[in-house]
Amino acid sequence: MTAWKEGVRPDPAPCREQDLGRFEVTQRDGQARLGRLHTKHGVLETPALLPVVNPNIRTVEPRVMWDKYGIQALITNSYIIWKHEDLRNQATSEGVHALLDYPGVVMTDSGTFQSYVYGDVEVGVDEIVRFQRSIGVDIATMLDVFSRPDMSEEEVEAAVRETAERAEQSILAAEETMLNGPVQGGLFRNLRHISAQLMGAYPFAVHPIGGIVPVMEQQRYKEYAKIMMATLPLLPANRPVHMFGCGHPMLFPMSIALGADLFDSAAYALFARDGRLLTPWGTERLAELVDWPLLMPCVAALTPADVRALPSDKREETLALYNLEVTLAELARCKQAVRDGTIWQLAEQRSHQHPALREAFLWLTTSPSSDRNLRPEKFYTDRDAARDTGSDQGMWEDAWDWVVWSQQTPRTGGVQWGGDDTFVRPQIVKARRLLHTRWGGREATEAIVVFHGIRGPYRERLGEVLTWLAHRCPNVQPLILSPLGLVPAALEDLNPFAHLDAPQWVLRHEPEKAWMASELSRLGLSGHPVSTVDVNGPGLKQRLAEALVAVSQESDVHQNLTHEQEREARDRLRVEQAVAKQMVLLNASREVATSTVDGCTFVTNREGRVKNVNSADGQHLFSPRLRDGGMSMANAGALALLASRTQPLPTLVPATEWRGHAGNGPAVVVVDDDAEPFVRKGRNAFHGFVLACDPWLSPGEPCLLTNQNGTLLGHGIAQCNADELRTFTKGIAVKTRGGFGEKNE
Ligand code: GUN
Repeated sequence: MTAWKEGVRPDPAPCREQDLGRFEVTQRDGQARLGRLHTKHGVLETPALLPVVNPNIRTVEPRVMWDKYGIQALITNSYIIWKHEDLRNQATSEGVHALLDYPGVVMTDSGTFQSYVYGDVEVGVDEIVRFQRSIGVDIATMLDVFSRPDMSEEEVEAAVRETAERAEQSILAAEETMLNGPVQGGLFRNLRHISAQLMGAYPFAVHPIGGIVPVMEQQRYKEYAKIMMATLPLLPANRPVHMFGCGHPMLFPMSIALGADLFDSAAYALFARDGRLLTPWGTERLAELVDWPLLMPCVAALTPADVRALPSDKREETLALYNLEVTLAELARCKQAVRDGTIWQLAEQRSHQHPALREAFLWLTTSPSSDRNLRPEKFYTDRDAARDTGSDQGMWEDAWDWVVWSQQTPRTGGVQWGGDDTFVRPQIVKARRLLHTRWGGREATEAIVVFHGIRGPYRERLGEVLTWLAHRCPNVQPLILSPLGLVPAALEDLNPFAHLDAPQWVLRHEPEKAWMASELSRLGLSGHPVSTVDVNGPGLKQRLAEALVAVSQESDVHQNLTHEQEREARDRLRVEQAVAKQMVLLNASREVATSTVDGCTFVTNREGRVKNVNSADGQHLFSPRLRDGGMSMANAGALALLASRTQPLPTLVPATEWRGHAGNGPAVVVVDDDAEPFVRKGRNAFHGFVLACDPWLSPGEPCLLTNQNGTLLGHGIAQCNADELRTFTKGIAVKTRGGFGEKNE
């Protein structure tokens, strides 16, 4: 959004004709996304809040929303316009934008909500859609059937089926107008699934999640989270999701983290009428305030007492502006968090603001399945309670997978410790899953030594003993105990494991037996003798000696290595680092990763850290990254990994498969002939130019770009998974990091 001087904000430019109705994602943080929805009245940046404007009672003028607040879209009710003759006449003759005096995106609802509140509406299914089209709305809504949380399963199913039956005629009546296809299903997970699939099969532009207003009013936020988790993974990924009637800023971080793109708020006006203020942590009463909970621009020169003294219409307007400003500010905070990769952290912080929100958060991040229970020892009492009884929770694993596997890892920057919640952040869970599913120890492993007790990165403190171990006890597998889990020493600098910003006592915690055993089993290292070494304080070598005795290994740690032995051992560690990083970050099997770097040489910086890994014939294969402990592929590395691929090349864009492809190499993305010259030059690969990919393609992960003949054109970082690649028609699919130039046959 460009800046404008107050009062002279220009009207929006319509989108390009060929882009009408398209949605693209420009940034993401897991399932949270910043997007652009292309309409005739401008490109709507998401996540967006659409204030509800009642055409009869305009608490805040739409023109003010546009000019002063830069609000790009609003929602009004077509049924109210249709019912009131004067409104209907003006809308029909001049259009809805003129009626509201608003130049931005206008979405309209259909009267469904009125039928929920008042029982029934008099308008026909086609009629209300045709009416919305005739008054020039940008995004219309079909007449869906509201499903209430107190309805029986049969009643809800009838609402779901009836809504789906109305879809086709509504789509036909809408013609070129973008149409909302609401998903119903009440509190029934299976019916939300069915509704999402039925509605997703029609060419709707947006999918609102319907029937959630009473759920939110009753503050049943766990049910709200369940509805999202039951619905969003099953909707076409390229369509924005609108949370119908959700306008309380308290719910934004969690909703956005779970993939919501649009919100609408009548709350700003309704609460104002009632003398109440919205805040990101709940609701407050004007009557009880001496100071503002948040000082917003519209009350900068006023105290709550001043506002109480205003005439009632002025007071209501001031509070409505206040609520709007607070809501927009929280939305902006969420958007920045998506850019910063901290939306889950924000959701986690906000979850402490309200018990029901906390319950929802705990429900989301808790599972009876093992890998979320990172630290079993102490904090599972409340998490246990947040689980549902019986086997219900197990059914949600697919949805949680959808959240976890979409996380980008490794990332740059420290991981802020936030108590026990830190360990169940989906980003951390994804990093652990990659480690556990892709890394494998050497077959010759005889024993394990676990170093513990210090803050990462660990190389300075451990460099000497690791070199010694590599030479004298090559079959001892060194591991490091980070608060986020056990990691092979070769991955000592990998984010997030090495980058936890936490108090000393978190970093120095003692290894606990049961936890170590489960961690070792996840790494495929069960069954070996294990001993631990506290890295703190003098006498490290002596403690290592004792640990080695305990696992029946050579222990003469005081016998120093010759220069030559040291050099050779250090190179062996560097090779193991390149192998481990290829496994975890590039999905190479140990066999392939080892052969890729067979005979390689290293270019190091002054501290002896590897800058480049070069092949035996001098080609640049990989560059380990200092900032996140990752490893970038260079062209020769990409070629080597493609050459060792054993799977056939993909021929279509399949459904996403998160599991079961460990060791198959980086995902391949096949682009069409039009894109080939651009990718070769190192330009990004765009949606719409991609023909096929592997099912394990994942946002943030390196991938290989080929043409249909399997010739490598370049490599890059995927921005999406396979399901997203199949549906999106606009935006970047792969950010290209290296292209092969003109020829590469
Ligand atoms: N407004 C709030 N909830 C709903 C819903 O379920 N359907 C429609 N059409 N509008 C709504």
